[in-house]
Amino acid sequence: MKISDEILRRRTFGIVSHPDAGKTTLTEKLLLFGGAIQEAGAVKSNKIKKAATSDFMEIEKQRGISVATSVMAFEYLNRHINILDTPGHQDFAEDTFRTLTAVDSAIVVVDVAKGVETQTEKLVKVCRMRKTPIMVFINKLDREGRDGFDLLDEIESKLALKLCPLSWPIGMGSEFQGVYNIWNSSLLIYQEGNKQKINKSFSINDLSSSDLENQVGENAANSLRNEIELIRGVYPRFDKKEYLEGNLCPVFFGSALNNFGVKELLDCFVEIAPSPQPKISIERLVNPHENIFSGFVFKIHANIDPKHRSRIAFVKIVSGEFQRNKNYFHVREKRQLKFSSPLTFLASKRAIVETAFPGDIVGLPDTGNFRRGDSLTSGEELNFKGIPSFSPEYFRFINNADPLKSKQLNKGIDQLMDEGVAQLFTLKSNGRKIIGTVGALQYEVIQYRLEHEYGAKCSYENYSAHKALWIESKSEKQLEEFLKFKSRYTAEDKFGRIVFFADSPFGLQMSVEKFDKLIFHEKSEY
Ligand code: G4P
Repeated sequence: MKISDEILRRRTFGIVSHPDAGKTTLTEKLLLFGGAIQEAGAVKSNKIKKAATSDFMEIEKQRGISVATSVMAFEYLNRHINILDTPGHQDFAEDTFRTLTAVDSAIVVVDVAKGVETQTEKLVKVCRMRKTPIMVFINKLDREGRDGFDLLDEIESKLALKLCPLSWPIGMGSEFQGVYNIWNSSLLIYQEGNKQKINKSFSINDLSSSDLENQVGENAANSLRNEIELIRGVYPRFDKKEYLEGNLCPVFFGSALNNFGVKELLDCFVEIAPSPQPKISIERLVNPHENIFSGFVFKIHANIDPKHRSRIAFVKIVSGEFQRNKNYFHVREKRQLKFSSPLTFLASKRAIVETAFPGDIVGLPDTGNFRRGDSLTSGEELNFKGIPSFSPEYFRFINNADPLKSKQLNKGIDQLMDEGVAQLFTLKSNGRKIIGTVGALQYEVIQYRLEHEYGAKCSYENYSAHKALWIESKSEKQLEEFLKFKSRYTAEDKFGRIVFFADSPFGLQMSVEKFDKLIFHEKSEY
């Protein structure tokens, strides 16, 4: 097959949801359709259960599983689909943000009873920022849930998405009869307990046909007709261009657990979801169809084998063909590297890969050469953008608890930060180090890993801050003034960028007003 055909048939996406909405179940059902697994239960949930948050063995075990499920590839209708796993647990949200930089589209799973939850809001915000095309799957229709229209209203307002329902439920919970697939005008009848099989579906082009009554009864048929009429009047028609530009999100209803409505979602997905997209670098826009190879590291997964401090750098291929044992240029380090055992991930199996194409993810075994955001090319100097850091939500000073091991501590902190476990800031006034994270659990993970992987001990001290803001300056003079005035609250991040710790929303507002030539960004790339 020609490279251009390989590129066009690739679909690389992530499923995002609040924990427990059904991401793992949906992933598993998609893999079943792709023949990548044979039975339900084969994909282990990589969510870190709430009860186990202080059980480190559990965390380690879960981390092991999440390497296996980091990328899951399968074939469906001649499309090569790569699902990138996105941890739902909020303490690992950074990991999910990073993974979203490597997807070409996303599916958002919403629980029909719970509606939009906090984690979904945060993740969709990241997708919106990047204009990622989104499809929505409303899950658990076999349970009593919220009214469909109310739910769509909530999604539109809380997630700031414009929706376009492409399927619609007939009843819900104990009354659930199936869904009408607006996308291909067919009726899908729900059969309880039919978890692995494909459900019965009927083509119904004309909703006024009495076939509808025959299938679902008079009352349900009439309600469906009214609701579909309302949908056609209120919601925009599907427009592929609008979807691809991230302006319109198709919505499907179903039950992942009962494998209901999943095939319909997948069939539509392979038809409309984008193949790999051009990616912007500081130097230029890189098109996937270019001959030269380029890719970027979006995630580093460490400690596959704690004794050897082994890591895997996950590279998303942006352009050209990747080949095993070929020299590639590590742009930041300005040197050539070649990889004898690059990995691909098929369902939960890893395998050595000979060639890979744009849209694919290869896992490169690494001993510390890579940092998240690094570029790898055939020789060209390209630095990909769009892998920002976001303001952490927790801040603590990190102290060395064993003075004889300061070298180990620094090395450990350095590598864990390269992996993106947390962010490191160095206060300008006294050089003290502050670790910023998105969840409190991260501090325990860092402490544990520093001790077990690097032989270093650390302790923490609270640092009270509301947010970290990256400062862009339009006046050197004002920046100087600001740094003098706020010296105790400014730091450098790992890349030497200036960061301001605002103590409260009010404090931030005061600074914004007083220093009008400075811009305070909530993310490191602007
Ligand atoms: P997550 O990855 O988004 O965290 O969610 P996951 O798929 O693990 O699903 C969370 C729970 O919701 C699971 O139950 C799962 O079986 C259930 N679930 C998923 N889809 C549906 C659905 O369509 N209908 C119903 N009724 N339940 C659904 P659990 O009891 O937490 O776990 P398990 O013991 O079943 O694995």
